[in-house]
Amino acid sequence: MKTVFITGATRGIGRELVKQLTALDYRVFGSGRDEALLEELKAETGCLGAVADLSDPAQVVGLYAQAKEALGQVDILINNAGLNHRKAPVSEIELDDWELQYAVNLRAPMLLSREALKEMASRKAGHIINVVSTIEKPRSPTIPPTVR
Ligand SMILES: NC(=O)c1ccc[n+]([C@@H]2O[C@H](COP(=O)([O-])OP(=O)(O)OC[C@H]3O[C@@H](n4cnc5c(N)ncnc54)[C@H](OP(=O)(O)O)[C@@H]3O)[C@@H](O)[C@H]2O)c1
Repeated sequence: MKTVFITGATRGIGRELVKQLTALDYRVFGSGRDEALLEELKAETGCLGAVADLSDPAQVVGLYAQAKEALGQVDILINNAGLNHRKAPVSEIELDDWELQYAVNLRAPMLLSREALKEMASRKAGHIINVVSTIEKPRSPTIPPTVR
């Protein structure tokens, strides 16, 4: 049975992914900050999970260790948690907002991928899926896909 560790499991896309993956018999470990929502999801789907704030790098690394411990190994990491509250133009960016978005949307997925790759590389197997913003879609048809 394949194992999946998915962040942002308490709401939205992540919550629905947990429901669908557990229904397909994947062993799933989900995370979020809202403990009540996570406990409800665990009871409903049989998934495992833990609460952590991904803006804190120590909690990010600790969370990966918890997922690995609970699942035995992580076959698939889905970096899904993210936020984009303001969608402000660069000229209006506020530092606190920028730092939070950087920490949750970029640093946390990089740290989780680092932890995952330590074991995926040694067994030459595994998948990392990053759920990103539509802002990331290619804008210029003149740039070949290989250099994007
Ligand atoms: N929905 C869209 O139309 C859309 C479009 C493009 C891209 N996306 C991307 O898809 C992903 C999921 O989007 P969604 O619409 O499902 O979002 P959502 O409903 O707002 O859910 C976000 C999830 O991320 C978790 N999260 C947020 N900040 C966190 C933090 N500091 N620490 C730990 N967990 C945190 C939330 O958990 P808690 O609330 O429990 O902390 C929640 O489970 C995001 O990366 C988003 O950028 C969504």
